[in-house]
Amino acid sequence: MYDKIKETAAWLQERMPAHPTTAIVLGTGLGRLAEEISVTLAIEYKEIPNFPVSTVEGHTGRLIFGKLGQHDILAMQGRFHFYEGYSMKEVTFPIRVMYELGIKTLFVSNAAGGMNPDFEIGDLMIITDHINLFPEHPLHGPNFPTGPRFPDMHQVYDKALIREAEVIAAEKGIKVQHGVYVGTQGPTFETPAEYKMFRILGGDAVGMSTVPEVIVAHHCGIRVFGVSIITDLGVEGKIVEVSHEEVQKAANAVQPLMAGIMREMINRNA
Ligand code: HPA
Repeated sequence: MYDKIKETAAWLQERMPAHPTTAIVLGTGLGRLAEEISVTLAIEYKEIPNFPVSTVEGHTGRLIFGKLGQHDILAMQGRFHFYEGYSMKEVTFPIRVMYELGIKTLFVSNAAGGMNPDFEIGDLMIITDHINLFPEHPLHGPNFPTGPRFPDMHQVYDKALIREAEVIAAEKGIKVQHGVYVGTQGPTFETPAEYKMFRILGGDAVGMSTVPEVIVAHHCGIRVFGVSIITDLGVEGKIVEVSHEEVQKAANAVQPLMAGIMREMINRNA
């Protein structure tokens, strides 16, 4: 696997128009930010050697090199989910490639169901920590030389980036929540009993992505910042039917706020 990562990185390095140190995984909620990137090179995943291919509705599969404001960035338009059938090594393959390309800071977003009773649909939740409930660990198997065999996880989501997001949100008058993201395999949304269990476990929101990528990024020493859009509620008494379409709709409504925070963070950080 490590040979494949190196091979893919070398292939991309031959084509890269710049050397960004910031990457964005354009998950649900950050599609809008993609429109603001002045693209210098976009490569479809299927053209990249060894890259998995995205299959989910609403996710285009492209790796983008470009500028956001003044800053060179690398963006993944479309991510790989475990529920699609990919192994955890495949889900996190692009993050390992990013590390080889020199990425130092990673921004991720997702849609999530809120379990914290103070949350409302449309809230943005800065991820302060996570609970990994995926059935396979992304670091399972021989250790990669990018980090220790037993990685410390006491502060995975970068504190300085969180603080900066808080400042930017306050400046822009955007309400933000903070919380623990529970990462599950999906593809089912939760039963009321499961939402309740995740709340008891210490979770504020639950979703089907992000945790694998974040673990691997952290193992590589990449700084991570993540935000969830609360698209539905898993709060007793407020639970109603959820569909992928509703999740997308709720996420789309808040996209401009999410994009505003991320744009400004990259502006100040890249
Ligand atoms: N559960 C899991 N994943 C999700 C949810 C949810 O309620 N909402 C958006 N993604």
